[in-house]
Amino acid sequence: MPKISEEVIKEVLQKTDIVDIISEKVSLSKKGKSYFGLCPFHNEKTPSFSVEPERKIYTCFSCGEKGNAITFKQKTENLTFVEAVEDLAIKANIDLDFGTYKRENPHKKYFEINRDAENLYKLYLSSTKQGIIAKQYLVDRGIKDDVINAFNIGLSPTEFDVLYKTLTEKGILVSDLHDLGLVKQSKTKSFYDLFRERIIFPILDERGNTVGFSGRSYLQTDKDSPKYINSPQTVVFTKSRVVYNLSNAINEIKKNNRVVLFEGYMDVIAAYRANIKESVASMGTSLTTEQVKIMKKYTSNVTICYDGDSAGIEATTRAIKLFERENMQVKIVLLPDNLDPDDYLSKYSAEKLNSFINEKWMDKIEFSYIQNNMGIDHAKMIDIERFKKTIFDLIKNTSNTIIERYIKRLATDISVSVESVRQDFNQYTRKNIHVAGDRFKRAIPIDSKYLFAERRLLCYFLSDIKYVLKFNAEFGEIFYINSMTRDIKHLIEDTHYKNLEDNKNSDISEDELVNILNEEQLHFYNTKVKNKMIMLFDKEYEDLIGTIQDYLNFLIQTELEEKIRAAETATEKIELAKYRDTNFKEAKHGQR
Ligand code: GTP
Ligand code: MN
Repeated sequence: MPKISEEVIKEVLQKTDIVDIISEKVSLSKKGKSYFGLCPFHNEKTPSFSVEPERKIYTCFSCGEKGNAITFKQKTENLTFVEAVEDLAIKANIDLDFGTYKRENPHKKYFEINRDAENLYKLYLSSTKQGIIAKQYLVDRGIKDDVINAFNIGLSPTEFDVLYKTLTEKGILVSDLHDLGLVKQSKTKSFYDLFRERIIFPILDERGNTVGFSGRSYLQTDKDSPKYINSPQTVVFTKSRVVYNLSNAINEIKKNNRVVLFEGYMDVIAAYRANIKESVASMGTSLTTEQVKIMKKYTSNVTICYDGDSAGIEATTRAIKLFERENMQVKIVLLPDNLDPDDYLSKYSAEKLNSFINEKWMDKIEFSYIQNNMGIDHAKMIDIERFKKTIFDLIKNTSNTIIERYIKRLATDISVSVESVRQDFNQYTRKNIHVAGDRFKRAIPIDSKYLFAERRLLCYFLSDIKYVLKFNAEFGEIFYINSMTRDIKHLIEDTHYKNLEDNKNSDISEDELVNILNEEQLHFYNTKVKNKMIMLFDKEYEDLIGTIQDYLNFLIQTELEEKIRAAETATEKIELAKYRDTNFKEAKHGQR
């Protein structure tokens, strides 16, 4: 078999941007000439994985993994050397005939064993007595043979070791079955199957290899066991990197230039039945950045169609953030009455589900509007003010048509005149422009107590994500006095989210900070924040927020006074003064 020549390999590496390749799987941040991120080869909370674009290599200082773009692709995607070179060559537009170079994938053995298991499960569903019962369950849920075949749905046997026995008799090593999580070993050392008496959904990687399984219980008697059991993490299966049904959906995704994301396997299947075949799901866990990056390879348009309940709405909010971080265009479908897509199909019809997803989608502003409006108490001034601010933030950089539409809608929903909302909006956006620019700050010296409060808040943001969330809810993520604290706060916020995704715990370690902050920020942190990370109390936090709010009010008032002075007509002066008196009387007297 011909080898790939050294020149070809050289050319491929030369024309490949290693940062680009690694960024598909690892979030990197630049520090000096290198990039840093969390090592994909071992579990870590603080980044010790570095990428050097000039030398075109990566190194993990913690676990010692190192290599180039080719080895990275091999290791993270289970590819052979030739397959990795091939992928990179395609990406770099290098035209080569690789057909002759194909060699065996080292994981091929595992894929084949999984395929054997898949076939056994399929056979069990199609031709056993128990299969008849399981099929009836599927039919009752509207899943007939065509769908069973399209998704390769199977059934795991009732007995505890059918798969173990059948496959080992075929000559498959029990150690391999064990590696794949298909069999487990009991205390008495005997082997038994992981999946028993469950409807089996094979899980395929991007290339269509069977990498794992998910089994759903279907018997009434099984009420106490978990609804789904998944294959454990194995050499070929990492949940956070698999997108359910992607390999089947790729062509449709490309054809329609969009991917539709669901929460559950059953929802993907419902969408398929409704002729929406560019459908995928994350793996039961919440969506990861890696999954987003994998989808982005095929399209930059996503429609999120999660369950219509409050958990689904929360998950949608989070997913929107992840997709937007990767610059994807997001549409959202919210099904009515807390229904998930599968329920919706059963209750109405495949046609109705199809048209709901294709026609009743909303954009992010619309979704946020609905979501925020649901969460507020219309009798509370503070809720309404916050709601207004959130919506103003969402619309402020959009077209006049959109702004007008939402101003009208806000006015109706909070029962005030359109004119008053419009005035608030103008006031609010002007204020933000001022704060964002430095012009205003130079003109008026900033009282150090405000700067201190903002700096002190960093301690809270660092200590717990809840403070970040609270602050954002209060100030709509945009109000800052000092740009250094703003930048550090954004980095802290991102890291909390990232850690939450990776470890289910958002805590940020000292090491991690050293890696995310640049030199200047680190100096600021070391001298002004670090040694004050003790004695944090909710009460102080509230006071600090109050101080920031005072400063905000002070800015608005100062600006208003300026406007009143500069107003050209008496009517305008009176209008502005009226606005000042109604909005800031309280603040004036209640200054802390
Ligand atoms: P049905 O309830 O049969 O309609 O399935 P579903 O896919 O709609 O499930 P649901 O909406 O309740 O959950 C969404 C996804 O979360 C599922 O597809 C699974 O991936 C995952 N999931 C749900 N329940 C469990 C569980 O008990 N264990 C695990 N590991 N994952 C689960
Ligand atoms: Mn469901």
